[in-house]
Amino acid sequence: MKKSYILNEGYEGSKIITKSYGSHIFIDKKKYIDLSNCAGSQILGHNNKVILNSFSQLNVKKISNYANPNIYALEFSKTLKKIFPEFSKFIFCNSGSEAVMKGLRICRALTGNEIIINVSGSWHGSLNETLYKTNRSLDSIKISDGLPNYSKKNIKFIPYGNILKSEKILKKYKNKICCILMEPIQGALPTIEKIKFIKFLEQYSRKNKILFFLDEIITGLRDKGTSFQNNNNIKSDISVFGKSFGGGFPLGIIGITQKTYNALKKKKSKIFFGGTFSANSVNMFIANNITNYLRKNKYILNSIKKNADFFKDGVNKFAENNNLDVRVFSYSSMARVVFTKKQIVDRNQRDFLENQNNNSIKKFRDFIYKKKIFYPSNGIIFFSASLSKKDLKYVINSFQEGLSKYF
Ligand SMILES: Cc1ncc(COP(=O)(O)O)c(C=O)c1O
Repeated sequence: MKKSYILNEGYEGSKIITKSYGSHIFIDKKKYIDLSNCAGSQILGHNNKVILNSFSQLNVKKISNYANPNIYALEFSKTLKKIFPEFSKFIFCNSGSEAVMKGLRICRALTGNEIIINVSGSWHGSLNETLYKTNRSLDSIKISDGLPNYSKKNIKFIPYGNILKSEKILKKYKNKICCILMEPIQGALPTIEKIKFIKFLEQYSRKNKILFFLDEIITGLRDKGTSFQNNNNIKSDISVFGKSFGGGFPLGIIGITQKTYNALKKKKSKIFFGGTFSANSVNMFIANNITNYLRKNKYILNSIKKNADFFKDGVNKFAENNNLDVRVFSYSSMARVVFTKKQIVDRNQRDFLENQNNNSIKKFRDFIYKKKIFYPSNGIIFFSASLSKKDLKYVINSFQEGLSKYF
């Protein structure tokens, strides 16, 4: 292993990637099939032709970065407006976490309230406000040291999928809520099964004039070239996007509706959105190219989703036939192997049941790594357009072999 001076989470002592192309990455000169694809942002795969062409065009057009409004941000905003006619303004930044952080700033400015209603099992990135998880009693439990005390006071959890209990908690904090923040599809348990719960929260927000804030960092663009909310007829007041829109380059987007924008104007809110690299021309140019390419070639997103379905069906049928203690969950072109066959309703239950299989999970992960497959440590499998049918079959066979050995 190479000596590392990097202290980012997960980097210390971890495997160092040296290069990549298509669906493959290289670690210590060995080639691996990549099931992470830069945490889902490389939707076309590594060094794909759209990115490479964008770099040549950047060179020809002599595009530099400007910490000022620029034509490339303007063009990208026009593309987004076509995809999301429901949003009247977009705010650009450099990560999903930054988008959530600035989105919450909007919600606090509009309501004067500080309580964030969060859904158990969600992930919203590395900002102080949301670095909490919850237990069965719905206490907020920090997942990092160094968080300010106010952030714990301001986050309250509702149980994923449980309408009755959620309604009680919402009532309790009713006049103190700045927003209901939720991932419509959780990386922790990707499934459409909770659609009734999402619709309940949408309607509850509308009825009680609470801001409904959807985190579509994962689902944005990946979900049929648009978003979960558009595909499921759900309306938010504010939403964030990232990952696939940037095609592997740093990006966060906040979309706000005309109603939200009008309310900000009426309140004369002065919200700070700036940053040296916010809406920087290079990222905006690349994001616009990736987004337009995927919009023009919708079959690509379709076929990535088919690959995810093929993976899910292949592993699940095998697991059922062989009575293995695993099930695959998926939504669109993301999937997750859950290491229990018991019916689970949320992430807490998943963690509890998976903990009983910890030894087998570790052995399975080592087995998959030896098969030259890079299985992301957070367990979220993101399929990309570059994975060949042959490699997909190899991945499925390897998962079947490993699962039957250890489960
Ligand atoms: C749903 C969701 N929200 C927010 C984030 C944070 O985005 P970023 O890692 O770009 O800061 C992520 C990243 O994994 C995410 O999946």
